[in-house]
Amino acid sequence: MKKITIAIDGFSSCGKSTMAKDLAREIGYIYIDSGAMYRAVTLYALEHGIFHGEDIDSARLREEMGNIDISFRLNPATGCPDTYLNGVNVEKRIRTMEVSAHVSPIAALDFVRQALVASQQAMGRDKGIVMDGRDIGTTVFPDAELKVFVTASPEIRAQRRYDELKAKGMPASLDEILDNVKQRDYIDQHRQTSPLRQAPDALLLDNSHLTIAQQQEWLKEQYLKVCQDHEPSTHSPA
Ligand code: DC
Repeated sequence: MKKITIAIDGFSSCGKSTMAKDLAREIGYIYIDSGAMYRAVTLYALEHGIFHGEDIDSARLREEMGNIDISFRLNPATGCPDTYLNGVNVEKRIRTMEVSAHVSPIAALDFVRQALVASQQAMGRDKGIVMDGRDIGTTVFPDAELKVFVTASPEIRAQRRYDELKAKGMPASLDEILDNVKQRDYIDQHRQTSPLRQAPDALLLDNSHLTIAQQQEWLKEQYLKVCQDHEPSTHSPA
């Protein structure tokens, strides 16, 4: 079957990564979590004194972008790619509340977006990729054959993230997570560069009341439909 590009965008904590990861594993595609890349830059900034309270020393971060190498390597235990920052596995450290609370302003910096978008486009050059994020169907892969825009209510998304952190043994407060979800929605939708919005040709999925299995089934169906549409016809003209 011909390989395609699959772009999955949407609000934070709406289950995009789960969908994207499971589909990629099932159909043998590469999976890239673009949010992990913005989180890795944020972790770098936090660990290198680039934040002064809530303020970012953006001149210094711009200078240091060339020293930030982000890559993904398959974790055989989970079957999913882990995020590496300058050769070190940071998969767990990029998921903390501290990184979540600082990532939106980093993701709003145009020079950060330019660098990460270029590297995401390079990763998708050969197709056969599922990438999730905020601007994948609009900016990174505007020609993706399958685009999905996922949404769910803020309360449901906060509860999901809370359950996820609890399951990983990471302490969390539901109120704090809900505030963070709402704040990130606002910043993601209102930033100047690549604001979060649904591409006109993206399919909308509200998964507030869907189980993971139901959304998986829906996504697989959309994938098969698109593949059929892009398969060269085997009938010769009469
Ligand atoms: O999906 P996530 O919560 O891990 O994303 C972390 C942050 O990165 C989120 O606040 C939005 C931002 N982001 C972005 O601006 N563009 C992307 N393609 C992916 C994530």
